[in-house]
Amino acid sequence: MADIMNDFLRKQMDDYASALFVQEDETLRWIQAQAEANQLPAISVRPFEGRLLQILVALVGAKTVIEIGALAGYSGTWLARALPADGKLYTLEKSAKHAAIARASFERAGVANRVELLEGDAHTSLSHLAQRAPFDMIFLDADKVSYPAYLKWAVANLRPGGLVAAHNAFRSGKVLNAQTDDDRAMDAFNRALAAEPTLGSMILAIGDGMAVGIKQRG
Ligand SMILES: C[S@@+](CC[C@H](N)C(=O)[O-])C[C@H]1O[C@@H](n2cnc3c(N)ncnc32)[C@H](O)[C@@H]1O
Repeated sequence: MADIMNDFLRKQMDDYASALFVQEDETLRWIQAQAEANQLPAISVRPFEGRLLQILVALVGAKTVIEIGALAGYSGTWLARALPADGKLYTLEKSAKHAAIARASFERAGVANRVELLEGDAHTSLSHLAQRAPFDMIFLDADKVSYPAYLKWAVANLRPGGLVAAHNAFRSGKVLNAQTDDDRAMDAFNRALAAEPTLGSMILAIGDGMAVGIKQRG
């Protein structure tokens, strides 16, 4: 009973914060409608998590951001809108179908000039992007089993003061009793993040949990 009450209160608080701070405009709703019409899985960030990403971009003064996992370009649009005019979002997507829909989303949102979509497996794209390091921010939202490897890449390729953020840090509570490879990988990622000496880290208990780590300066 107490859990149901907590869930209810949590939803009410999410709704309260969203009503005050989150504006999902016609373009963002259009992107979600395209995702649904094309039968993409409904696994994007939620509007208040998109707003959180924008706050993180602003906090670190990010100009160069990498996103792993574009899907339909929903979170990418939130991120790109938070960048300065000379900023750049590199978004990595292995599915050709998802990549095509994301490209259309960035055009529709008027941010295509600030977004480079790298189609293909993220591990390959990251090895190319390393030549353009350091980056200001990396947002992980793709295959959970690769999160520990993505974290290593982030540690090596973020600038001092740069930020790594990872979606689904709680996996709806399943990190407490991991049953699948994805659950175990998320738990392993959180533990590696907590133990990484070059990062100051925490999980922000917003939505499904946003794990964040800031690379130490000097
Ligand atoms: C959770 S969705 C991303 C949602 C998106 N960030 C949003 O909130 O709008 C995960 C995406 O990662 C892509 N993906 C999974 N594994 C990948 C990999 N190894 N390399 C690149 N993309 C990958 C999937 O095809 C999918 O589109």
